[in-house]
Amino acid sequence: MATVHMVTRRRGLARRLAAGLGEGHTVTRLAPAWFPAGEPDLLILEGAVLERLAPALAGLRPAPSGATVPVLLVAPRRSVARLAPDRWAVVDDVATTPVAGPLLRRRVGNLLERRRLETAARPAGLAGASPVSTMQAHTARLRENPVDTVFALTRAGTFRDEDTGAHIRRISAYCAELCDALGTSADFRDSLYHASALHDVGKIGIPDDILLKPGGLTAEEWATMKTHTEIGERILAGGEAACLQMGATIARHHHERYDGTGYPDGLAGEAIPLSARLMSLCDVYDALRSARPYKAPFDHGTATAIITEGDRRTRPEHFDPAVLAAFRRISGRFAGIFEATAEEG
Ligand SMILES: [Fe+2]
Ligand SMILES: [Fe+2]
Repeated sequence: MATVHMVTRRRGLARRLAAGLGEGHTVTRLAPAWFPAGEPDLLILEGAVLERLAPALAGLRPAPSGATVPVLLVAPRRSVARLAPDRWAVVDDVATTPVAGPLLRRRVGNLLERRRLETAARPAGLAGASPVSTMQAHTARLRENPVDTVFALTRAGTFRDEDTGAHIRRISAYCAELCDALGTSADFRDSLYHASALHDVGKIGIPDDILLKPGGLTAEEWATMKTHTEIGERILAGGEAACLQMGATIARHHHERYDGTGYPDGLAGEAIPLSARLMSLCDVYDALRSARPYKAPFDHGTATAIITEGDRRTRPEHFDPAVLAAFRRISGRFAGIFEATAEEG
């Protein structure tokens, strides 16, 4: 049973959110004056109280347990758009009002999962440690194992649309298979295994009404959607670990096409980093195999035929010929990976 604290002056909003959350949570409403109280598993914050609470929230990072208490901001889209960068530093995710129950449950589920992973991963013996030593232990852990930490921190942001956890795991596995088929170095393969999972992390910066829109996007919305590539690069840039550097490259270039018709830079041929050339074929295969609001899932044979022969949206010219040839040789492995995890959703 997760403990959720809701900080809002509006009883009606608290009631609606609690109803939207459904069962499995102990929800307590706190007036801003009572905050902070104990260490909940999740804080849900009404937009209007953020300004007042931001300093107290900064003090919660990391919380006494050593894990972060995730913060979900519930606010009208207008005020989210005006949020200052230092306020984003204390907010983990945003749900714009009015919030639909399924969306709220998804957001809350993701944040609680992150909290669970962080709590499970925290170094032993930190309970009761001073905030400084807790912070030092975290920093040391981040240096030792940036991969796990980054995964825990980015997972929450990347599962808002069709990209489920199973999709991310399959992408990593397809990439590793392609690396083996192409005979890349083991270091490249390992980095790509981790980095490919981060390809859509920039979607965290795309508003819900565009990301989750059931119908087609307008030209303006599509232009916004495409910025997930640049946002992702900005999120991951500056990391020292090889997989983070590759993650930044993949985030920016995973929608480039070999014939130069992709985005955001319209790169062509070998100007597109190899990691992104591998990744894009894997992403297209998985999207073809998966159900989407606008299409039923294709079987392996159809997905393979679309990639190697083309259809109205996809052309073989979109892919690096060497990567395409490797895919032809080992496409049966892609089928095996998909079928092993498809049940997970
Ligand atoms: Fe993408
Ligand atoms: Fe994807």
